[in-house]
Amino acid sequence: MKDVKDIYVFAIESSCDETSCSIVKNGKEEIATVVLSQIDIHKDFGGVVPEIASRHHVKNITIVIEECLTKANMTMEEMDAIAVTYGPGLIGSLLVGVEAAKTLAYLYQKPLIPVHHISGHIYANNLKEELKFPLIALVVSGGHTELIYMKDHYCFEKIGGTLDDAVGECYDKVARIIDVPYPGGPTIDKWAQLGEDTYHLPLPLNDDSYNFSFSGLKSAVINLVHNEKQRNQPIRKKDLATSFQNTVVKIISKKTMKALKDYQVKNLIIAGGVAANHGIRETLTTLCEQENITCSIPDIKYCTDNAAMIAASGYYAYCLGRVGDLDLNPKSSIILK
Ligand code: KG4
Ligand code: ZN
Repeated sequence: MKDVKDIYVFAIESSCDETSCSIVKNGKEEIATVVLSQIDIHKDFGGVVPEIASRHHVKNITIVIEECLTKANMTMEEMDAIAVTYGPGLIGSLLVGVEAAKTLAYLYQKPLIPVHHISGHIYANNLKEELKFPLIALVVSGGHTELIYMKDHYCFEKIGGTLDDAVGECYDKVARIIDVPYPGGPTIDKWAQLGEDTYHLPLPLNDDSYNFSFSGLKSAVINLVHNEKQRNQPIRKKDLATSFQNTVVKIISKKTMKALKDYQVKNLIIAGGVAANHGIRETLTTLCEQENITCSIPDIKYCTDNAAMIAASGYYAYCLGRVGDLDLNPKSSIILK
């Protein structure tokens, strides 16, 4: 990696329902970030509607770009590179960010840095403390549940992942079953801390692999709620939230600790929207302490989608010469490499 000093990366993230821009210095110092969330718009539909999301990105993107520069009191000329999430995500949403980034790169003659969304979530940790290698990254979000082994910057080896639903998706679906508005993950998490673990739920894919499966757990919750209704029994929502969260935390922490042990790794980082979850944060922090493993979790504001994490990842991609062309196209699904 070449020796660089004070590199400013301007980044754009628009892969789902957040339009975000950020300026980060040297991959670790956040100068300014703007996040415009569409959550309130999609709430009425019980989830993100792709067509509506992309239309709002179109409406918001220039406002967010300008607001970010104003907040930083900087100009585009001062940037060293333009990073952008090019996938995975909703294709129409990604397209807006990618087109904006390409336009800026062309107009201001800056290198364009394509960034994988998951790599962004991982590098969100770099905004708190520099990543230490080798590490295992547990990526838990609305679209992903993955265990990734990294022996250095940008060396990603996926060692396991979900075979069906992502953990955040499962949280949101379970929330919907008990009438909690989208996105229900944070509410279930809050209730989980207030209830008691009284409902029995099966531990999903409780095997020796590093893979996960959450659709069975979701079905178990649906069946449980259905059966209680048939018996005219009220659902104790807080207890159900606790039982559900304990089941999720148990399987995630079991497989994560196994990966750390098998790969003889002493650094764990947790990333993605579900890294905001209290159960996951507290359990893995405690288990890591017991095993002398450093556990790093981003501040809550960097857990959910934001462009600061894309800028942080983009900085390392830039230093490694991973520059994209102006014919870059977004991709709804891409392998992290
Ligand atoms: O990373 P993210 O912002 O978007 C994706 O890339 O998917 O993650 C959003 C997901 C949603 O499913 C949301 O319900 C979940 O993260 N989430 C949580 C919590 N905060 C956000 N799930 C459980 N507990 C939380 N505290
Ligand atoms: Zn995300």
